[in-house]
Amino acid sequence: MYSVRKMCCVFVSPTLPTTGVQRADCMEYRELPGTNIRLSVIGFGCWAAGGQHWGNDASQDDFRAAISQALALGINWFDTAPLYGHGQADTLLADVLRTEHSDAFVVTKVGVRNAEGSRPVSDLSPAHIVSDTEASLKRLRLETIPLLLVHWPCDFGTPICESMTALESLKLSGKIRHYGVCNYPPVLLEQVLQCGNPVALQTPYSMIRREFEQQLRDVCMPKGADGWPRQKIGVLAYETLCRGLLTGKYGPDHRFGANDLRAHDGRFSGDWARKNLTFVDSLRPIANKLNVSLAALAVGWVCQMPGVTAALVGVKRPEQIRECVKSINLISFTELWHAIDRRIRRYASP
Ligand SMILES: NC(=O)c1ccc[n+]([C@@H]2O[C@H](COP(=O)([O-])OP(=O)(O)OC[C@H]3O[C@@H](n4cnc5c(N)ncnc54)[C@H](OP(=O)(O)O)[C@@H]3O)[C@@H](O)[C@H]2O)c1
Repeated sequence: MYSVRKMCCVFVSPTLPTTGVQRADCMEYRELPGTNIRLSVIGFGCWAAGGQHWGNDASQDDFRAAISQALALGINWFDTAPLYGHGQADTLLADVLRTEHSDAFVVTKVGVRNAEGSRPVSDLSPAHIVSDTEASLKRLRLETIPLLLVHWPCDFGTPICESMTALESLKLSGKIRHYGVCNYPPVLLEQVLQCGNPVALQTPYSMIRREFEQQLRDVCMPKGADGWPRQKIGVLAYETLCRGLLTGKYGPDHRFGANDLRAHDGRFSGDWARKNLTFVDSLRPIANKLNVSLAALAVGWVCQMPGVTAALVGVKRPEQIRECVKSINLISFTELWHAIDRRIRRYASP
Protein backbone atom coordinates (compact mmCIF):
# COMPACT_ATOMS: atom_id res chain seq x y z
CA MET A 1 0.00 0.00 0.00
CA TYR A 2 2.81 2.37 0.78
CA SER A 3 5.37 1.15 -1.71
CA VAL A 4 7.61 3.76 -3.28
CA ARG A 5 6.56 4.22 -6.89
CA LYS A 6 9.17 6.72 -7.96
CA MET A 7 12.49 7.78 -6.58
CA CYS A 8 13.30 11.43 -6.89
CA CYS A 9 16.66 11.24 -5.26
CA VAL A 10 18.97 8.63 -6.66
CA PHE A 11 22.52 8.30 -5.46
CA VAL A 12 23.85 8.36 -9.00
CA SER A 13 27.48 9.14 -8.71
CA PRO A 14 29.43 6.61 -6.74
CA THR A 15 31.81 7.52 -3.98
CA LEU A 16 34.14 10.30 -5.09
CA PRO A 17 37.67 8.90 -5.12
CA THR A 18 39.49 11.33 -2.84
CA THR A 19 36.91 12.32 -0.26
CA GLY A 20 34.59 9.36 0.24
CA VAL A 21 31.70 11.80 -0.20
CA GLN A 22 28.60 10.72 -2.14
CA ARG A 23 26.43 12.98 -4.27
CA ALA A 24 22.68 12.94 -4.82
CA ASP A 25 20.98 14.42 -7.84
CA CYS A 26 18.18 16.13 -6.00
CA MET A 27 17.26 17.89 -2.80
CA GLU A 28 14.00 19.68 -2.06
CA TYR A 29 14.18 23.43 -1.33
CA ARG A 30 11.52 25.62 0.26
CA GLU A 31 11.24 29.38 0.49
CA LEU A 32 11.70 30.95 3.89
CA PRO A 33 8.68 33.30 3.93
CA GLY A 34 9.54 37.01 3.73
CA THR A 35 13.03 36.34 2.35
CA ASN A 36 14.64 35.40 -0.93
CA ILE A 37 16.26 32.42 0.77
CA ARG A 38 15.41 28.89 -0.30
CA LEU A 39 16.40 26.38 2.32
CA SER A 40 17.02 22.70 1.76
CA VAL A 41 14.19 20.85 3.46
CA ILE A 42 16.84 19.18 5.65
CA GLY A 43 19.26 21.30 7.66
CA PHE A 44 22.40 20.16 9.44
CA GLY A 45 22.52 20.66 13.23
CA CYS A 46 26.00 21.38 14.65
CA TRP A 47 25.35 21.07 18.39
CA ALA A 48 27.28 17.80 18.77
CA ALA A 49 30.19 19.30 16.80
CA GLY A 50 30.73 21.53 19.83
CA GLY A 51 32.19 18.44 21.52
CA GLN A 52 29.97 18.54 24.61
CA HIS A 53 26.74 16.85 25.73
CA TRP A 54 26.52 14.21 22.98
CA GLY A 55 29.08 11.58 24.08
CA ASN A 56 32.59 10.95 22.82
CA ASP A 57 32.00 8.67 19.86
CA ALA A 58 32.62 11.21 17.07
CA SER A 59 35.86 13.02 16.26
CA GLN A 60 36.37 16.46 14.77
CA ASP A 61 37.28 14.68 11.51
CA ASP A 62 33.93 12.84 11.61
CA PHE A 63 32.06 16.15 11.90
CA ARG A 64 34.11 17.72 9.11
CA ALA A 65 33.40 14.76 6.85
CA ALA A 66 29.70 14.89 7.75
CA ILE A 67 29.46 18.60 6.85
CA SER A 68 31.23 17.97 3.53
CA GLN A 69 28.87 15.09 2.85
CA ALA A 70 25.85 17.26 3.66
CA LEU A 71 27.02 19.93 1.20
CA ALA A 72 27.46 17.31 -1.50
CA LEU A 73 23.92 16.08 -0.86
CA GLY A 74 22.53 19.58 -1.48
CA ILE A 75 22.03 20.67 2.12
CA ASN A 76 22.45 24.44 2.10
CA TRP A 77 21.98 25.48 5.73
CA PHE A 78 23.79 24.71 8.95
CA ASP A 79 22.49 25.45 12.41
CA THR A 80 24.93 26.44 15.12
CA ALA A 81 25.06 28.55 18.29
CA PRO A 82 27.66 30.25 20.51
CA LEU A 83 26.59 27.80 23.21
CA TYR A 84 27.64 24.73 21.20
CA GLY A 85 31.01 23.97 22.77
CA HIS A 86 31.55 27.66 23.63
CA GLY A 87 32.02 28.46 19.93
CA GLN A 88 33.82 25.24 18.96
CA ALA A 89 31.01 24.23 16.59
CA ASP A 90 31.15 27.68 14.94
CA THR A 91 34.87 27.46 14.35
CA LEU A 92 34.68 23.96 12.90
CA LEU A 93 31.75 24.89 10.66
CA ALA A 94 33.47 28.05 9.41
CA ASP A 95 36.63 26.06 8.61
CA VAL A 96 34.81 23.42 6.59
CA LEU A 97 32.67 25.94 4.68
CA ARG A 98 35.82 27.88 3.81
CA THR A 99 37.71 24.74 2.71
CA GLU A 100 34.73 23.67 0.59
CA HIS A 101 34.34 27.22 -0.88
CA SER A 102 30.72 27.01 0.19
CA ASP A 103 28.30 29.90 0.56
CA ALA A 104 25.76 27.78 2.46
CA PHE A 105 23.51 29.65 4.90
CA VAL A 106 24.70 29.75 8.46
CA VAL A 107 21.90 29.97 11.00
CA THR A 108 23.11 30.90 14.46
CA LYS A 109 21.65 32.07 17.75
CA VAL A 110 21.95 35.03 20.04
CA GLY A 111 21.26 35.93 23.64
CA VAL A 112 22.67 33.15 25.77
CA ARG A 113 25.18 34.10 28.42
CA ASN A 114 27.21 31.40 30.18
CA ALA A 115 26.82 31.81 33.90
CA GLU A 116 29.66 30.55 36.12
CA GLY A 117 28.57 27.40 37.99
CA SER A 118 24.93 27.43 36.86
CA ARG A 119 22.85 26.93 33.76
CA PRO A 120 23.27 29.42 30.90
CA VAL A 121 20.80 32.32 30.84
CA SER A 122 19.16 34.30 28.07
CA ASP A 123 20.14 37.97 28.19
CA LEU A 124 18.23 39.82 25.48
CA SER A 125 19.30 43.32 26.47
CA PRO A 126 20.19 45.31 23.33
CA ALA A 127 23.84 45.62 24.45
CA HIS A 128 24.23 41.85 24.84
CA ILE A 129 22.44 41.13 21.56
CA VAL A 130 24.94 43.36 19.75
CA SER A 131 28.09 42.06 21.49
CA ASP A 132 27.01 38.41 21.16
CA THR A 133 26.31 38.87 17.43
CA GLU A 134 29.65 40.57 16.84
CA ALA A 135 31.47 37.69 18.56
CA SER A 136 29.59 35.21 16.32
CA LEU A 137 30.52 37.17 13.18
CA LYS A 138 34.20 36.86 14.15
CA ARG A 139 34.09 33.15 14.96
CA LEU A 140 32.09 32.34 11.85
CA ARG A 141 34.30 34.60 9.71
CA LEU A 142 31.23 36.22 8.14
CA GLU A 143 30.37 39.83 7.31
CA THR A 144 26.66 39.12 7.58
CA ILE A 145 24.79 36.37 9.40
CA PRO A 146 22.03 35.15 7.05
CA LEU A 147 19.65 34.19 9.86
CA LEU A 148 20.10 35.00 13.56
CA LEU A 149 17.71 33.37 16.03
CA VAL A 150 17.06 34.33 19.64
CA HIS A 151 18.03 31.08 21.41
CA TRP A 152 15.24 31.15 23.99
CA PRO A 153 13.01 33.76 25.67
CA CYS A 154 14.63 36.35 27.92
CA ASP A 155 15.41 35.35 31.51
CA PHE A 156 15.85 38.97 32.67
CA GLY A 157 12.61 40.68 31.66
CA THR A 158 13.93 42.87 28.83
CA PRO A 159 10.74 43.96 27.02
CA ILE A 160 10.35 41.98 23.80
CA CYS A 161 10.07 45.15 21.68
CA GLU A 162 13.45 46.41 22.95
CA SER A 163 15.12 43.17 21.84
CA MET A 164 13.35 43.32 18.47
CA THR A 165 14.52 46.91 17.97
CA ALA A 166 18.11 45.78 18.59
CA LEU A 167 17.69 43.01 16.00
CA GLU A 168 16.22 45.49 13.48
CA SER A 169 19.28 47.74 14.04
CA LEU A 170 21.60 44.79 13.36
CA LYS A 171 19.71 44.29 10.10
CA LEU A 172 20.07 47.96 9.15
CA SER A 173 23.81 47.84 9.86
CA GLY A 174 24.18 44.79 7.59
CA LYS A 175 25.43 42.51 10.37
CA ILE A 176 22.47 40.16 9.92
CA ARG A 177 20.09 39.61 7.00
CA HIS A 178 17.13 38.17 8.89
CA TYR A 179 16.21 37.17 12.39
CA GLY A 180 13.82 34.87 14.18
CA VAL A 181 13.34 33.07 17.49
CA CYS A 182 13.64 29.59 18.98
CA ASN A 183 11.57 27.93 21.68
CA TYR A 184 8.96 30.71 22.00
CA PRO A 185 5.51 29.64 23.17
CA PRO A 186 2.49 30.91 21.21
CA VAL A 187 1.72 33.96 23.36
CA LEU A 188 5.30 35.26 23.29
CA LEU A 189 5.60 34.54 19.59
CA GLU A 190 2.50 36.69 18.98
CA GLN A 191 4.23 39.53 20.86
CA VAL A 192 7.40 39.09 18.81
CA LEU A 193 5.31 39.32 15.63
CA GLN A 194 3.68 42.52 16.85
CA CYS A 195 6.99 44.35 17.48
CA GLY A 196 9.33 42.91 14.88
CA ASN A 197 9.68 41.13 11.57
CA PRO A 198 10.93 37.64 12.45
CA VAL A 199 11.09 35.22 9.54
CA ALA A 200 11.48 31.95 11.42
CA LEU A 201 10.62 29.97 14.51
CA GLN A 202 12.87 27.07 15.51
CA THR A 203 10.90 24.63 17.61
CA PRO A 204 10.88 20.94 18.59
CA TYR A 205 8.68 18.69 16.44
CA SER A 206 8.68 14.94 15.88
CA MET A 207 6.34 11.98 15.63
CA ILE A 208 6.38 11.81 19.43
CA ARG A 209 6.76 15.48 20.35
CA ARG A 210 3.85 17.37 18.84
CA GLU A 211 3.08 20.46 20.93
CA PHE A 212 3.79 22.54 17.79
CA GLU A 213 0.40 21.40 16.48
CA GLN A 214 -1.53 22.81 19.43
CA GLN A 215 -1.34 26.60 18.94
CA LEU A 216 2.07 27.42 17.55
CA ARG A 217 1.24 26.23 14.06
CA ASP A 218 -1.74 28.60 13.93
CA VAL A 219 0.50 31.52 14.89
CA CYS A 220 3.05 30.59 12.22
CA MET A 221 0.42 29.77 9.62
CA PRO A 222 -2.76 31.77 10.38
CA LYS A 223 -5.90 31.50 8.25
CA GLY A 224 -6.37 34.26 5.66
CA ALA A 225 -9.65 36.00 4.81
CA ASP A 226 -10.46 33.12 2.44
CA GLY A 227 -10.15 30.64 5.30
CA TRP A 228 -6.93 29.06 3.95
CA PRO A 229 -3.82 29.00 6.16
CA ARG A 230 -0.88 31.09 4.91
CA GLN A 231 2.67 30.63 6.10
CA LYS A 232 3.55 33.84 7.94
CA ILE A 233 6.95 32.76 9.24
CA GLY A 234 9.13 29.78 8.48
CA VAL A 235 9.23 26.81 10.83
CA LEU A 236 12.54 25.04 11.36
CA ALA A 237 11.85 21.87 13.32
CA TYR A 238 14.42 20.30 15.63
CA GLU A 239 14.47 17.06 17.65
CA THR A 240 13.08 15.43 14.52
CA LEU A 241 14.81 12.20 15.61
CA CYS A 242 13.93 12.80 19.26
CA ARG A 243 17.67 12.90 20.00
CA GLY A 244 18.15 9.55 18.26
CA LEU A 245 15.32 7.71 20.00
CA LEU A 246 13.29 7.47 16.78
CA THR A 247 16.18 5.71 15.04
CA GLY A 248 15.29 2.61 17.07
CA LYS A 249 18.84 1.97 18.26
CA TYR A 250 18.31 2.81 21.94
CA GLY A 251 16.35 0.41 24.14
CA PRO A 252 15.23 1.19 27.73
CA ASP A 253 18.35 -0.55 29.08
CA HIS A 254 20.81 1.54 27.12
CA ARG A 255 23.17 3.51 29.37
CA PHE A 256 24.55 6.79 28.05
CA GLY A 257 27.86 8.19 29.32
CA ALA A 258 27.83 11.01 31.86
CA ASN A 259 28.80 13.51 29.14
CA ASP A 260 25.75 12.64 27.03
CA LEU A 261 22.65 14.73 27.77
CA ARG A 262 20.49 11.70 27.04
CA ALA A 263 21.69 10.14 30.32
CA HIS A 264 19.33 12.63 32.02
CA ASP A 265 16.51 12.58 29.44
CA GLY A 266 13.50 10.67 30.85
CA ARG A 267 12.35 9.71 27.36
CA PHE A 268 15.26 7.22 27.18
CA SER A 269 14.55 5.29 30.35
CA GLY A 270 11.88 3.31 32.17
CA ASP A 271 8.24 3.10 31.10
CA TRP A 272 8.52 6.16 28.90
CA ALA A 273 11.32 4.53 26.88
CA ARG A 274 9.40 1.23 26.67
CA LYS A 275 6.32 3.05 25.31
CA ASN A 276 8.45 4.95 22.79
CA LEU A 277 10.17 1.77 21.71
CA THR A 278 6.87 -0.05 21.17
CA PHE A 279 5.91 2.74 18.83
CA VAL A 280 9.27 2.68 17.03
CA ASP A 281 9.01 -1.12 16.66
CA SER A 282 5.60 -0.66 15.00
CA LEU A 283 7.36 1.36 12.28
CA ARG A 284 10.04 -1.24 11.53
CA PRO A 285 7.98 -3.28 9.01
CA ILE A 286 7.26 -0.08 7.05
CA ALA A 287 10.92 0.95 7.03
CA ASN A 288 11.98 -2.57 6.01
CA LYS A 289 9.45 -2.69 3.19
CA LEU A 290 10.66 0.64 1.85
CA ASN A 291 14.29 -0.31 2.46
CA VAL A 292 14.96 2.90 4.39
CA SER A 293 16.08 3.48 7.95
CA LEU A 294 13.78 4.51 10.79
CA ALA A 295 15.75 7.77 10.81
CA ALA A 296 14.65 8.53 7.24
CA LEU A 297 11.01 7.81 8.16
CA ALA A 298 11.19 10.12 11.19
CA VAL A 299 12.75 13.00 9.26
CA GLY A 300 10.40 12.53 6.29
CA TRP A 301 7.37 12.62 8.59
CA VAL A 302 8.38 16.05 9.91
CA CYS A 303 9.22 17.42 6.45
CA GLN A 304 5.76 16.59 5.08
CA MET A 305 3.79 18.06 8.00
CA PRO A 306 1.80 21.26 7.29
CA GLY A 307 3.60 24.39 8.41
CA VAL A 308 7.10 22.92 8.42
CA THR A 309 9.63 24.71 6.22
CA ALA A 310 12.60 22.49 7.02
CA ALA A 311 13.76 19.82 9.46
CA LEU A 312 17.05 19.86 11.32
CA VAL A 313 18.98 16.73 12.08
CA GLY A 314 21.88 16.53 14.47
CA VAL A 315 24.58 14.58 12.67
CA LYS A 316 27.90 13.12 13.76
CA ARG A 317 29.11 11.14 10.75
CA PRO A 318 28.61 11.12 6.94
CA GLU A 319 26.53 7.94 6.89
CA GLN A 320 24.00 9.50 9.29
CA ILE A 321 23.26 12.39 6.95
CA ARG A 322 23.17 10.06 3.94
CA GLU A 323 20.47 8.01 5.70
CA CYS A 324 18.43 11.05 6.71
CA VAL A 325 18.50 12.51 3.20
CA LYS A 326 16.78 9.39 1.87
CA SER A 327 13.65 10.83 3.50
CA ILE A 328 13.36 13.24 0.54
CA ASN A 329 12.17 10.29 -1.56
CA LEU A 330 9.29 9.69 0.79
CA ILE A 331 7.79 13.16 1.29
CA SER A 332 5.10 12.92 -1.40
CA PHE A 333 3.79 9.44 -0.48
CA THR A 334 0.60 10.30 1.35
CA GLU A 335 -0.47 6.68 1.92
CA LEU A 336 2.77 6.15 3.80
CA TRP A 337 2.06 9.02 6.18
CA HIS A 338 -1.53 7.81 6.71
CA ALA A 339 -0.14 4.40 7.66
CA ILE A 340 2.30 6.00 10.08
CA ASP A 341 -0.36 8.29 11.59
CA ARG A 342 -2.42 5.22 12.44
CA ARG A 343 0.54 3.88 14.41
CA ILE A 344 1.12 7.24 16.11
CA ARG A 345 -2.53 7.31 17.23
CA ARG A 346 -2.29 3.76 18.50
CA TYR A 347 1.10 3.75 20.21
CA ALA A 348 2.36 7.31 20.65
CA SER A 349 -0.60 9.39 21.76
CA PRO A 350 -0.13 11.13 25.12
N1 LIG B 1 17.16 26.06 19.13
C1 LIG B 1 17.33 25.19 20.08
O1 LIG B 1 17.09 25.46 21.26
C2 LIG B 1 17.82 23.81 19.73
C3 LIG B 1 17.72 22.78 20.69
C4 LIG B 1 18.17 21.51 20.34
C5 LIG B 1 18.72 21.28 19.08
N2 LIG B 1 18.82 22.31 18.19
C6 LIG B 1 19.42 22.08 16.86
O2 LIG B 1 18.94 20.87 16.35
C7 LIG B 1 20.04 20.01 16.01
C8 LIG B 1 19.64 18.59 16.20
O3 LIG B 1 19.60 18.29 17.59
P1 LIG B 1 18.40 17.51 18.22
O4 LIG B 1 18.47 17.68 19.68
O5 LIG B 1 17.20 17.96 17.49
O6 LIG B 1 18.73 16.01 17.86
P2 LIG B 1 18.10 15.02 16.78
O7 LIG B 1 18.39 15.55 15.42
O8 LIG B 1 16.71 14.67 17.12
O9 LIG B 1 19.03 13.72 17.07
C9 LIG B 1 20.40 13.81 16.83
C10 LIG B 1 21.11 12.52 17.14
O10 LIG B 1 20.51 11.41 16.46
C11 LIG B 1 21.53 10.50 16.06
N3 LIG B 1 21.41 10.32 14.60
C12 LIG B 1 21.40 11.26 13.62
N4 LIG B 1 21.24 10.72 12.41
C13 LIG B 1 21.14 9.40 12.60
C14 LIG B 1 20.97 8.30 11.72
N5 LIG B 1 20.85 8.45 10.41
N6 LIG B 1 20.91 7.07 12.27
C15 LIG B 1 21.02 6.89 13.60
N7 LIG B 1 21.18 7.90 14.48
C16 LIG B 1 21.25 9.13 13.98
C17 LIG B 1 22.88 11.10 16.43
O11 LIG B 1 23.34 10.71 17.72
P3 LIG B 1 23.90 9.28 18.14
O12 LIG B 1 24.59 8.68 16.97
O13 LIG B 1 24.78 9.57 19.31
O14 LIG B 1 22.67 8.55 18.56
C18 LIG B 1 22.53 12.56 16.60
O15 LIG B 1 23.40 13.26 17.43
C19 LIG B 1 21.18 20.47 16.92
O16 LIG B 1 22.44 20.09 16.41
C20 LIG B 1 20.95 21.95 16.92
O17 LIG B 1 21.51 22.51 15.74
C21 LIG B 1 18.36 23.55 18.49
